[in-house]
Amino acid sequence: MALKSIDPTKTKAWKKLEEHFKEIKNVHMTQWFKNDTNRANRFTIKWDDFFVDYSKNRITNSTVDLFLELANEVELKNAISSYFSGDKINQTENRAVLHTALRAPESAQVFVDGENIIPKIYETNKKIETFTNHIINGALTGHTGKPFTDVVNIGIGGSDLGPAMVVEALSFYKNHLTTHFVSNVDGDHVNEVLKKISPETTLFVIVSKTFTTQETLSNANTIRQWFLQSAQEHTVAKHFVAVSTNIKKVKEFGIVNENIFPMWDWVGGRFSLWSAVGLSISLSVGYNNFKALLEGAHKMDEHFKNEPLQTNIPVISAFLSIWYNNFFKSESEAIIPYTQYLNQFATYLQQAIMESNGKTIMRNGDKVNYQTGNIIWGEPGTNSQHAFFQLLHQGTKLIPADFIGFKKSLHGNIDHQDKLMSNFIAQTEALLNGKSSEEVAKEIQRSNLPKETINQLTPFKVFEGNKPTTTIFIDKLTPESLGKLIAMYEHKIFVQGVVWNIYSYDQFGVELGKQLAGNILEEFNSSSIITHDASTKNLINHYKNLTE
Ligand code: F6P
Repeated sequence: MALKSIDPTKTKAWKKLEEHFKEIKNVHMTQWFKNDTNRANRFTIKWDDFFVDYSKNRITNSTVDLFLELANEVELKNAISSYFSGDKINQTENRAVLHTALRAPESAQVFVDGENIIPKIYETNKKIETFTNHIINGALTGHTGKPFTDVVNIGIGGSDLGPAMVVEALSFYKNHLTTHFVSNVDGDHVNEVLKKISPETTLFVIVSKTFTTQETLSNANTIRQWFLQSAQEHTVAKHFVAVSTNIKKVKEFGIVNENIFPMWDWVGGRFSLWSAVGLSISLSVGYNNFKALLEGAHKMDEHFKNEPLQTNIPVISAFLSIWYNNFFKSESEAIIPYTQYLNQFATYLQQAIMESNGKTIMRNGDKVNYQTGNIIWGEPGTNSQHAFFQLLHQGTKLIPADFIGFKKSLHGNIDHQDKLMSNFIAQTEALLNGKSSEEVAKEIQRSNLPKETINQLTPFKVFEGNKPTTTIFIDKLTPESLGKLIAMYEHKIFVQGVVWNIYSYDQFGVELGKQLAGNILEEFNSSSIITHDASTKNLINHYKNLTE
């Protein structure tokens, strides 16, 4: 069944939410904490190794109840069944959206156009497993017989960001292979990577769903030429493998059948790390850890599918996001993981979230008259505390933030972990409570400054507080818990798209720039003149060093 087109702003629940917003928009959350000793517990979801505390948000019981009414009116539950059962909910591309099938158990049955897709997923997983084992244990070697030491993932967007983020996130679990990522069409990127590797001992994984992406094909060709400077054409087969849906194009590139790892059009690029796109993850941490990542994601899928909406982590998380985006008019959301391992998590989520929900057209083809996709940004704590936290605490913008932390550190340094966790918890406390002018005045008085100076300084040192945060506290960063965390955000994206009445799984917005770059590139190399605006024309001429 296709997703229905329901304008959320025309629902009864939305109108009630607007009224409710007027009532609570100026209430300080500390008031609610004072009046209700059970608030923290009531707004905490404990599930598996996840402890999600969303009590430090500008919500009351009524807010949640009204969002549940909204979910009902936009038929969220039906949408969830359509999503999991393989309905073509990516209607603008006439495709199913089945990254969830990639982590379903072997006994599951998921049909696309009458075919159960689970057997071919498992066949590919087996191929990933065997290949991974052979590269790691040295059964497969480079063309001079030396074992592989390095892997280079060549891809961009979803064919880069997911694997790159996970490989770094799981670097504690990695083996002897060093993984590199080449994505940008900037030739300096590929050349910097080539400086670090030897053609004899490097495996190249070309990842491109379409196998037509300019950046990936340019980088793959450059690397192939570099490789052939010291090796013979027939040895390409030992060093280059590809992941794609476009088998014909992969073969044209010269990659042999056994080195092709298939993927399918029902997997969106930004949701594809669970497929063979994750080959570099499997190579880096071993197949069993890759499998654990998939199993974690599957557990979150089950939670999302079966848990009542009021205790459903992705659903609540999506409600909060919509609440701030559409009612408080927050433009952006910060993601702050308190682990250096998740250094690339916000970057990864930028594609997942902004490419999915950065849309203006409702499912019936009309233009929306409300805000959709939010802007995502973030950096790990505690680094970010010394960078942009000033603005979170005392700036004029309301920026809801997800604080993601892990109880146990992987290297077990208790001293550091205690310091990290104290910051993790303290920041949400500070953002909630702030610091009043009385508290500030009392504090400065202790410094024996003249009264006048105290009065002058006080306003600058006040923290208003009332800044919303959600704490996602997880026991330990493992392949399984990481799988759950990523899947949580994937489902949050889905819920937001359903409520905003947009199509989350196409990305036509990235096409125009590509097309125009193609025209300009042609102009660089020929005398053909295409009409441009004056600014664009000047820039082209400036690059070509021409003056009119
Ligand atoms: O940025 C647009 C996009 O189509 C993404 O959705 C995709 O992840 C990326 O390009 C790479 O595409 P491909 O895997 O086909 O090379």
